[in-house]
Amino acid sequence: MESKNIGDTLEKVVPEAEDFLPLNGTDYVELYVGNAKQAAHFYKTAFGFQSLAYSGLETGVTDRVSYVLAQDKIRLVLTTPLGPGGEINKHLNDHGDGVKVIALWVDDAYKSYEETTSRGAKSYMEPKTISDENGEVRLSGIHTYGETVHIFVERKNYKGLFMPGFVEWKSNYNPEPVGLKFIDHMVGNVGWGEMNDWVEFYAKVMGFAQLISFDDKDISTEYTALMSKVMSNGNGRIKFPINEPAEGKRKSQIEEYIDFYKGAGVQHVAIATDNIIETITKLNERGVEFLYVPESYYDTVLDRVGEIDEELEPLKKLGILIDRDDEGYLLQLFTKPVEDRPTLFFEIIQRKGAKSFGKGNFQALFEAIEREQESRGTL
Ligand code: FE2
Repeated sequence: MESKNIGDTLEKVVPEAEDFLPLNGTDYVELYVGNAKQAAHFYKTAFGFQSLAYSGLETGVTDRVSYVLAQDKIRLVLTTPLGPGGEINKHLNDHGDGVKVIALWVDDAYKSYEETTSRGAKSYMEPKTISDENGEVRLSGIHTYGETVHIFVERKNYKGLFMPGFVEWKSNYNPEPVGLKFIDHMVGNVGWGEMNDWVEFYAKVMGFAQLISFDDKDISTEYTALMSKVMSNGNGRIKFPINEPAEGKRKSQIEEYIDFYKGAGVQHVAIATDNIIETITKLNERGVEFLYVPESYYDTVLDRVGEIDEELEPLKKLGILIDRDDEGYLLQLFTKPVEDRPTLFFEIIQRKGAKSFGKGNFQALFEAIEREQESRGTL
């Protein structure tokens, strides 16, 4: 597949995407976690998510409990099994806390299933309709990389809070949101030599087009290297960069992820804000840990990115990274992994015209990750 420059833009490029699978956006992201009650507390306290819905023993579900949290357009579902054995425990045992479901909002869950399985997707959930007094939700699902799945959610005939089977989760503890708006992109790490298979999966099975590719010349430091291609659906609301490790002097961060996650999985969830200085200030106050970039990054950054609206001083103080492409610039910052295994982390991103992913920051960023790897003895 032809590589495209980082400067190539969404509007010009995605018309190659086919629209047999129209997607309205991300519906929710579900994490399987060891202790959903405590994880929910963390995502409320640290990231400003709000209590939305709940399912568990009190709602007649006996094998698992799920908490649904929301912030603006983002819905996070945290699920923990209530007993031993079974698929969720196996997932936890293999992968630790991590993303199981990237749910996609569609107009027709039955058709989405047909279109994707007929193109070779492996079925995860046969189409089904669930209902309650608020209407009906139609669901279906397919497998993607590793043990991650996509669930297609059709909710045009549903007026409830989340979906049938869930009740309102009322809480007396409601920390303020921090300005997180929507999911900008979600990155998958796949194993050696597997990137192109998954790029082809998103192209053929889901009708996505390739926006950008990076190779090890773009993304390598003394020690680490990776390759990445960014796949997008037709309207650009769903963007999935896919990374694979590349040969470097020492262990790549992608390889470290694969080692600890025990296979392919979601590496990071990038969340958009429209005021990154405010958002990161609040996240810092709430104990979210970010990758540290040396102050020297800011000595030359404006030579590279040119004029920006923000004052440099607060960006420097918070360690926010800056990059520019043909259409504008972006501000971004990455958390440290949010669980004990060095696996899933979050990115906070503010786009000021730029539609790319921060290539100009890779060097500084990867050196920061390597410092972390060094301290874990996994470099
Ligand atoms: Fe990202």
